[in-house]
Amino acid sequence: MDSTPTRIVILGAGYVGLPLAIAFARQNNLVTNLDIDQEKVDALRRGSSSVTGVDSEELKTLIRDGKYTATSKAECIKIANVVIVCVPTPLSKSREPDLRPLRQALEAVAQFAQRGQLIILESTTYPGTTQELVVPRLEKAGFHPGEDLYVAFSPERIDTGNREYQLHNTPKIVAGINEISLQKALEVYELVVEKLVPVSSPTTAELAKLLENTFRAVNIGLANEVAVMASHLGVDPFEVIDAAATKPFGFMPFSPGPGIGGHCLPVDPLYLSWRMNHFAYEAKFISLADQVNQGMPDYVVNRVADGLNRSRLSLNGSRTLLCGVTYKPEVNDIRESPALEVMRLLESKGAHVDYLDPLVPHLPTRHGGKESIQLDSDFHSYDAVIVTTPHQQLPYDRLAKESRLLLDTRGAFRHRNISAPNIWSL
Ligand SMILES: NC(=O)c1ccc[n+]([C@@H]2O[C@H](COP(=O)([O-])OP(=O)(O)OC[C@H]3O[C@@H](n4cnc5c(N)ncnc54)[C@H](O)[C@@H]3O)[C@@H](O)[C@H]2O)c1
Repeated sequence: MDSTPTRIVILGAGYVGLPLAIAFARQNNLVTNLDIDQEKVDALRRGSSSVTGVDSEELKTLIRDGKYTATSKAECIKIANVVIVCVPTPLSKSREPDLRPLRQALEAVAQFAQRGQLIILESTTYPGTTQELVVPRLEKAGFHPGEDLYVAFSPERIDTGNREYQLHNTPKIVAGINEISLQKALEVYELVVEKLVPVSSPTTAELAKLLENTFRAVNIGLANEVAVMASHLGVDPFEVIDAAATKPFGFMPFSPGPGIGGHCLPVDPLYLSWRMNHFAYEAKFISLADQVNQGMPDYVVNRVADGLNRSRLSLNGSRTLLCGVTYKPEVNDIRESPALEVMRLLESKGAHVDYLDPLVPHLPTRHGGKESIQLDSDFHSYDAVIVTTPHQQLPYDRLAKESRLLLDTRGAFRHRNISAPNIWSL
């Protein structure tokens, strides 16, 4: 690609679209984040980012230098060379793919697309989406994809909060609907990613992304089941896993916990199993892992009840504290967090629940609108303290000393050499 800045429009200014926009803007391209959330757009235009790892000062500099802007007006698509779609792909209430945001984004693209543009889909989605949803919508708008406009799929692999592997040093899979689409997409990503992995078709890339996430979901499910089995055998699952992980080949450790969370792992594998239903094929590993992982919050709550029972206390009326409500440590993302499901279940059984999370000072109203207690609070007054997400900042020593019943769901104390019971070794 020559040195003329590329005009890039990125639909979706979330955990994926915003860091991607910043990466391109840093390389002197002219980037516009297009988002339907006007409040988010206004905040971004003021240089305020709520995505972990995106620095508001850098955002302000890029805005001042004219490299980055945000808008809710889809007309901006008209002047782009490259349009990248990073909108959410959630599940509906019946846990099937909810393709509404993606369809809505495609409507905007189809309405304002121009000949010669490269359209790239990055959202994680079911295998076949690019060929069956994106291409036909562009054809309906009068284009000949692959000839007068180019189409590619390149799944995002961002791991929010990971300081070692970021966009630039995480290899990126890229696929085009034809050779020229692929070459154009490779030229674009070369600007911001060190190693690109071209594959032969968008469906291959779509399935590769789902394999990555299904691999994690299934292995976390296995770790959760091993933890339950270890509990029956009276041994500590974290000691078992740490011991097995000393094998230098053929084993990769995964940790048990209160369930599975985030926008990806509990959601993406179900896009694949949903797609397989069209072939009357049941994705067995996916449904089993889903069943085990979705059952963990309930398991945790039962263990808390068992722990209280030993002191002749009931869950009903108890004062419990949850430490960490995000779906993983060191991020402020509560989407699909199993900790919130634990909170909901505890409350449904009559427990009074407080939470401590330095990264989430307030919970949204749909999760009860509570405020986090302070890090220096007194923990003696709680009947049970449950560590659901082990952020670095939690006061582990004081939690171990002051809690009347301490239940670790993540092996956080063991990994800090502090003696404390976990929920499996009660
Ligand atoms: N978060 C991750 O770590 C991660 C990693 C890899 C892949 N993904 C995938 O990337 C995609 C985006 O995920 P995310 O985490 O950035 O989601 P997000 O919810 O953080 O951000 C999505 C943004 O898109 C906006 N949006 C919704 N509909 C839109 C539309 N029609 N037009 C323009 N903007 C629209 C929303 O307002 C929101 O700001 C999903 O498919 C997800 O599975 C996420």
